[in-house]
Amino acid sequence: MQLYDLRFGVIGWGYWGPKISRNLATLPNAAVTMVADSDISRLSSLNVNQPWIKTTTQASDIFNSDVDAVVIVTPVRTHFQLARQALLHGKHVLVEKPLTYSVDEAEELVALAQEQKLILMVGHTFEYNPAVNELRKLIHGGDLGKIYCIETERLNLGLFRNDINVIWDLAPHDISILLYLLDKKPVKIKVQAHANLQRHIHDVAHLDLEFDDGLNAHIHVSWLHPNKTRRVTVIGDARMAVYDDVNKAEMLKIFNKGAEIHADPVVSYRYGAITIPHFDEIEPLRLECEDFANAIRTGVQPRANGEVGLKVVKILAAAQESLQKQLELNTLLV
Ligand SMILES: NC(=O)c1ccc[n+]([C@@H]2O[C@H](COP(=O)([O-])OP(=O)(O)OC[C@H]3O[C@@H](n4cnc5c(N)ncnc54)[C@H](O)[C@@H]3O)[C@@H](O)[C@H]2O)c1
Repeated sequence: MQLYDLRFGVIGWGYWGPKISRNLATLPNAAVTMVADSDISRLSSLNVNQPWIKTTTQASDIFNSDVDAVVIVTPVRTHFQLARQALLHGKHVLVEKPLTYSVDEAEELVALAQEQKLILMVGHTFEYNPAVNELRKLIHGGDLGKIYCIETERLNLGLFRNDINVIWDLAPHDISILLYLLDKKPVKIKVQAHANLQRHIHDVAHLDLEFDDGLNAHIHVSWLHPNKTRRVTVIGDARMAVYDDVNKAEMLKIFNKGAEIHADPVVSYRYGAITIPHFDEIEPLRLECEDFANAIRTGVQPRANGEVGLKVVKILAAAQESLQKQLELNTLLV
C-alpha cells in the first residue's frame, strides 16, 4: 500500500471539482482520499472510475476524517461555512474563488486560519498562469514604460449562475490578475451592469477602477457574448502588451507601438515590431495545487493566500455597492 504525507478531501464534485482533483492527485506523495457532494448523483461516476476514493454526501465526514487539507469547490455562498468548519477541525483549506460572499466572512476566515496556524488559500488560478507571470515581469522590469491603463475582458455565452451575478462569478479572476500585476490596490470603483436574462441577476458588467497614481483599469465581464474571450491589454507609454488566454500559440504579445504628444505635429505615432516571448507552458491549476502543497509542507504562505482573497472580496463588495447606487441614481430621460 502506498503511503502519502498529504491527503486531500475535496468538497463539491460539479464542473470544477474533478479538474482540481486531477491536479492534486499527480502531486508527489499526495492523494485525494475523500470526496463529498451533497448531490449523490454527482458521485456515481467517481465510484466507478476511481473506486479507491471514499465518497460521501456529508461534508462533515471529511472534516472528521484523517485528511490533512480540504479543497472547497462548491457554490460561492457555501464557501464561508464550509471553510470555517474545515479550519475549526484543524484542516488546511483551499477555497475556490471568490473566498467568500462578504468582507466580514473573509476577515473571519483569515483571522481563524492565523489563530489555528493553518494555511488558507483561494483558487485565483490566473495568478499561476505563466503568461500572467511574464506580463508581471514586463511591467515591473519597466519594459512597457509607465502604465497608463489596463483593460480586461472575460466574455462567453454562459455559464449562467442563479446564485450570484457575473461580477462575483468572473471578476475575481480579473481583479486578482490586476492586483498581482500591479502590486497595488485601486482607490475608486464605478460599475455599470445589466440583467438581461434573469431578473436581478446581472449578466453583463463593466467595472472602472482607479488607482491613486492615475492608472485606471477597465474590467468587462459577460455571460452573454458569442465569443469566448479571456484577454488582458496593458497600455504603457513605451510598449503595449496583450495576454490572450484563448490564443494558446501566441498567448502573450508585446507591441512596440505608441503615441506621443509633440508641438508640431501634435501627436506622433510609433509602429514597431511585435514580439512573442517564450515561456514554459504549465497548467496554471497544477502550479496552484503545487503552491498549496508546498505551503502546507513548509509553512510558507502561498501566493494566493487568504489575505489576497480578502483584498479581492473587498473590491467585489465595493463593486456590488457601486452597482446598488447606480440602480438608485439612474435618471430617467424623458
Ligand atoms: N478557478 C477557476 O477557474 C474556476 C472555474 C470554475 C469554477 N470555479 C469555482 O468553483 C466553485 C464551484 O463551481 P462549479 O462550476 O464546479 O459549480 P457546480 O455547480 O458545477 O458544482 C458545485 C458542486 O457542489 C455541490 N455542493 C453544493 N453545496 C454543497 C455542500 N454544502 N456540500 C457538498 N457539496 C455541495 C453541488 O452538488 C455541485 O455538485 C465556485 O466557487 C466557482 O467560482 C473556479
